[in-house]
Amino acid sequence: MLVKDIAGMIQNDSISIRLAVELDVHDIAEVAYRNSRNPWTEAGLLEELKYDFSLLIAAELNYSNKSSIIGFANLHITEPEAHLNEIAIEKQYRRMNIGSRLLYFCINESKVRGCEYITLEVRESNEEAIRFYKKNGFHILGKRKKIYTDPNDDAIIMRLEI
Ligand SMILES: CC(C)(COP(=O)(O)OP(=O)(O)OC[C@H]1O[C@@H](n2cnc3c(N)ncnc32)[C@H](O)[C@@H]1OP(=O)(O)O)[C@@H](O)C(=O)NCCC(=O)NCCS
Repeated sequence: MLVKDIAGMIQNDSISIRLAVELDVHDIAEVAYRNSRNPWTEAGLLEELKYDFSLLIAAELNYSNKSSIIGFANLHITEPEAHLNEIAIEKQYRRMNIGSRLLYFCINESKVRGCEYITLEVRESNEEAIRFYKKNGFHILGKRKKIYTDPNDDAIIMRLEI
């Protein structure tokens, strides 16, 4: 599919952001496998759906009576804190504001559920993601040394007051 076609579809607002259900888990695991550095497995995602404190959120592209999941996020709600565990968008759909729309959905759900702030940890080498979070209002709280392996990396801790 050509990028201009994708952009056209997105202008027509054919992206929906919604809470995921069990039927979505297989597709979300595939998005995670292709786009996350430490991907969730299908079994892990199914486990997440069982917990009341865990929200799995899908970004879905709807076109010609079809739909496909092109991004997801996972959030743990432990008021007053919400912790964003993962957010990922398929490569060909990046920088079209879909990640931000997914993030706003997470922020809104966190607010509605009584949270006052959102935290997250991101690899120091993941400059695109750090820029993405800063653009969306997160600030850097600090660093945890050598927390990631394969490859070794420090974690940047970020927070957004909501
Ligand atoms: C981080 C991620 C979810 C952003 O999704 P997205 O749909 O591209 O985000 P948006 O289009 O809403 O926002 C784009 C903004 O993010 C930043 N950004 C994203 N990718 C960037 C890149 N390759 N280079 C520089 N800045 C980038 C910029 O601020 C950009 O704004 P701009 O386009 O006006 O310059 C996506 O890059 C991704 O899935 N990455 C792989 C998974 C990942 O690392 N997740 C974070 C784990 S903690």
